[in-house]
Amino acid sequence: MNMNGQLLWGDNLTILQQIPDNIADMVYIDPPFFSNKDYKTYNKTDGSLSAFSDTWKGGLTDYLQWLHTRIKEVYRCLKPDATLFLHCDWHADAYIRTQILDPIFGTKQLLNVIAWCYNMGGRSSNCFARKKDTIFWYAKGKQWTFCADAIKIPMDSGTKSFGGKLLTDADGRVYREVFGSKNSKGEKRYYRYYLDEGKVPEDWWIDINSLQASHSERCDYPTQKPEALLERIILASTQKGAVIIDPFVGSGTSVVVAERWQRQWIGIDCSEAAIQTTSMRLKALSADFRCSSTYTSPSAT
Ligand SMILES: C[S@@+](CC[C@H](N)C(=O)[O-])C[C@H]1O[C@@H](n2cnc3c(N)ncnc32)[C@H](O)[C@@H]1O
Repeated sequence: MNMNGQLLWGDNLTILQQIPDNIADMVYIDPPFFSNKDYKTYNKTDGSLSAFSDTWKGGLTDYLQWLHTRIKEVYRCLKPDATLFLHCDWHADAYIRTQILDPIFGTKQLLNVIAWCYNMGGRSSNCFARKKDTIFWYAKGKQWTFCADAIKIPMDSGTKSFGGKLLTDADGRVYREVFGSKNSKGEKRYYRYYLDEGKVPEDWWIDINSLQASHSERCDYPTQKPEALLERIILASTQKGAVIIDPFVGSGTSVVVAERWQRQWIGIDCSEAAIQTTSMRLKALSADFRCSSTYTSPSAT
């Protein structure tokens, strides 16, 4: 199977079953979140509104079983040193971690629980505003790729919590000196963070906001994620030429970023609107771009 530029329309379970073992360097999954909503999107072919559904007749049990079968297939497709990012939120994150990901990958294979924090959209009046998604990052094996230098951000980006003092060393380089905990002899320890080195982001990301109607990358696909978010994920976890699979490709954010950064990719979705939107975004990247879209009969969810 040619791994590059495959945009596949159909149920991802059937399609994943046809993908060979051990071929992906990274899989990004952004499935329906068990939100109990149906999402509408405009179909550019016939002007109708099509939707992807996130309602489950059999409730949570059905949802988890549905997701479990797909993640088992994803696991099989991962290379031994590959990783999976699974994007979800408060609706089911605890269940996905404990009932699907830990049993399939093993609890020790969890690398990070990333909180992607944003502040756009409506706010609750009777509880704290729910303004974060959870992104689980799991490794299949004992080794994995982490390209720290590719994703560094300014040292003081989005935070004041570093504290400490700004000082300048003998070479004129500015650093922030922060107290650590005392060592076993009761002596104070100091950490020195040079501003010109930047930092690897923490596992809470507050510097990437969710998309608003006015954002130029917005293409009106519900639940579309920002390219900056996928850029951080892809650049951190893969090198040029790596194979990335997104079985819930939606508007195509992951594959657009993969294409831009010279990764190989396979994108799958059961919604025609998703395939149309993704094709359009890919074509906009380059007039010559030809992805080998394969249209199978959609028979999903
Ligand atoms: C949350 S959206 C993905 C959004 C995407 N990350 C983006 O940035 O646009 C989930 C997608 O999963 C797709 N989907 C749901 N069930 C599916 C299935 N069984 N097979 C393939 N795609 C499915 C939906 O059509 C929807 O486009």
